[in-house]
Amino acid sequence: MDDFSGFYKLSVEERLARVKKAAGLTDDEARTLQQSGALDMGKADKMVENVIGAIHLPLGLATNFVINGKSMVIPMAVEESSVIAAACKAAKQTLPAGFKAEADDPVMIGQVQLVGMEDPAAAVKNLALNRKEIMAIASEYMKPHERYGCGVRGFEARILDSARGQMVTVDFQVAVGDAQGANMVNTLLEGVAPTLATIADARIRLRIISNLAVKRRARASAVWKKDIIGEDTVEGVLDGAEFARSDVYRCATHNKGIMNGIDAVALATGNDWRSVEAGAHAYAALGGYHPLTHYYKNEKGDLVGSIELPLAVATVGPAMNSSPTARIALKIMGVKTSKELAMAMACVGLANNFAAIAALSTEGIQKGHMKLHARNIAIYAGANADEAEKVAEIISAEKNFDAEHAKEVLRKVRR
Ligand code: MEV
Repeated sequence: MDDFSGFYKLSVEERLARVKKAAGLTDDEARTLQQSGALDMGKADKMVENVIGAIHLPLGLATNFVINGKSMVIPMAVEESSVIAAACKAAKQTLPAGFKAEADDPVMIGQVQLVGMEDPAAAVKNLALNRKEIMAIASEYMKPHERYGCGVRGFEARILDSARGQMVTVDFQVAVGDAQGANMVNTLLEGVAPTLATIADARIRLRIISNLAVKRRARASAVWKKDIIGEDTVEGVLDGAEFARSDVYRCATHNKGIMNGIDAVALATGNDWRSVEAGAHAYAALGGYHPLTHYYKNEKGDLVGSIELPLAVATVGPAMNSSPTARIALKIMGVKTSKELAMAMACVGLANNFAAIAALSTEGIQKGHMKLHARNIAIYAGANADEAEKVAEIISAEKNFDAEHAKEVLRKVRR
């Protein structure tokens, strides 16, 4: 059995040949891995270790979004069939007013962990007393980014009680402009940490950005008129939202529906969706896990929905530079700043959440979902675009979504 030793030293072609042999891949399967699309395989090989190919997701556009009075089409990359359709439908139902959105200035938190000090309280005091020197050293690391409005805004040292005794975290607030900020902040933290250790008479441990970007939140709201969505949907969404507020099992799924939309935009625009996910769920957990959206009925009987969550997303940076489609996605959206992108993502999250609860609380989601899912199954069974519609129709009517059955239906369609 090949243990893949030295795999990283090989070229992409050599790696592919080796994995083909080890896993018994067919020529077709190996060729599929080689189809890297717009992402040049050479570039992909520089982006991560041990590259053998690239994966693909559909990239679609969410339409009907009017945000702060301006129309915007929003690229979304996602494999789940109903997500883009749901965003489009929910956005359409807010028209002509659309969404209102705002975002905080892009300030991230970075942490330096200090351990092993004799007197943590004295360490915290000394760090505060030496604020000027610490800020001056930290600011040195931000000099290259100052022209983009970046800089250290301040820091705070806190004592943490832990199973390994007391430790101190020094939390820096750093304005990162239109970048996500991880590289900038982590460089700063590693640079300033020795000074902190000397002042606190401590040992340095972790130096890393926090994904709980509470200082970088985005908010959006919209009104769904009862004349458009119907009174039962207004009541249904209120009931559904209350379910999430009352029960953590439902709340996790409620928030997942929000992230369906947000992650899809993050992926399409080359953003680090794992940090967005981590931030969203940690934020939802502050003060007890809660829904990221809120709904109420206004005096006219219309449904008002709102969302707030941290969105540390970028319109510049390494991922965007190496992903050709991410740059194009941002161009299609017409956003320049990270704040504009975060606002759009908050609107999509709210739209997806509304669409999910509206459907779940009335007709259920399976009808619409399975219709779209049936098309996916038909394509998986080998149907081309025209055949897929026919196969999907038949397997939906029969309520039999088994892939082998879809292949059989396709054979009949072709006869
Ligand atoms: C499925 O991807 C998302 C939903 O489960 C969200 C929700 O339940 O609110 C439909």
